[in-house]
Amino acid sequence: MRRALLAQARGCAQLGSPMYVELLTRAADDPGAVAAVLGDRTRPGFILGMLGAVHRLVLEGRVPELAAHYPTAGGTEDPLDAWPAFRDVLIEHAAEIRDGLTDTPQTNEVGRAAPPVGGLLTVAEATGGLPVRLLEAGASAGLNLRADHFRLLHEGGAYGPESPVVLAGAWRGLPPVDAPLAVAERRGCDPNPLDATSPDAQRRLLSYVWPDQAGRVARLRAAFEVAARVPATVVRAGAADFLDGLAPRQGVTTVVWHSTMRPYLSDDEAARVDRHIENAGAAATEDAPVAHLTFEGRDAARLDAVQVVALRLWPGGERTILGEGRSHGLPTTWF
Ligand SMILES: C[S@@+](CC[C@H](N)C(=O)[O-])C[C@H]1O[C@@H](n2cnc3c(N)ncnc32)[C@H](O)[C@@H]1O
Repeated sequence: MRRALLAQARGCAQLGSPMYVELLTRAADDPGAVAAVLGDRTRPGFILGMLGAVHRLVLEGRVPELAAHYPTAGGTEDPLDAWPAFRDVLIEHAAEIRDGLTDTPQTNEVGRAAPPVGGLLTVAEATGGLPVRLLEAGASAGLNLRADHFRLLHEGGAYGPESPVVLAGAWRGLPPVDAPLAVAERRGCDPNPLDATSPDAQRRLLSYVWPDQAGRVARLRAAFEVAARVPATVVRAGAADFLDGLAPRQGVTTVVWHSTMRPYLSDDEAARVDRHIENAGAAATEDAPVAHLTFEGRDAARLDAVQVVALRLWPGGERTILGEGRSHGLPTTWF
């Protein structure tokens, strides 16, 4: 447990959460309370799940002494001094935290809207501005199904409408920003879909963001506002079932999009997804194109700190790497 906590502390250091580095390091010095909650479950997913479960108690207003150290709850005490109160919460709420643990904390990263907006502009340019039917596999709460309603700042200015979501440093280089982009339909799937307009789901998503990462927290809260006025549907299904029977549709470009989703598929499900998309692509015409737009690791089956924006567009189906970015999407560099 001590080794696992220190390994996770190093991960949090790399990704910029001094608060969690300090909590995990203190926990490694005194691992009894964590061990009482996690038992022998030392995989990173469980440790992050525990941090998320405690954060959820904070966001629910149930542990005020600890909340005083959490910027996400308006706390004004030093986040680096949170360990004694954190330890007390672990002891007092051990059973509830244990019951709430899953091995896969659920996130929906709004920064990952930077890649699809550029990808969709590329598709719009190539298809003469046909409206887009956007289908997202592994959409989580569907926040990025509204990516075209976000404002993206880049070296040359800004792209997108006025919006509560402003992604600073979104792009290096530019996709074809003059292409006309219209999204006609927004639909996604997830084995565990979250309703981005429900306070409970919002707390759940916030709980997995590290509390001292103010930018990510602000982006998420702003995306909840956009979700409240731009409808999108996320159905409960795995990617392969969702895409079963996929076919092109006249007058729109059917775009299958996913980000940081592929590593969660079994080989069998991944093969089924590929087959459904290939079949739809084979039936595509100039008036009913099909695109597969992804933001995944170079080896798509593995989680990676750097991900590439890849596009296949039918008729034709040629694969192009459009750009790359860090796994949280910001900035995305266009080639
Ligand atoms: C790291 S999150 C990424 C969520 C979102 N795509 C984003 O970029 O913010 C991975 C998502 O994949 C979903 N997922 C897991 N297994 C899946 C499957 N078999 N088919 C589709 N989605 C899946 C998870 O529920 C989770 O919402």
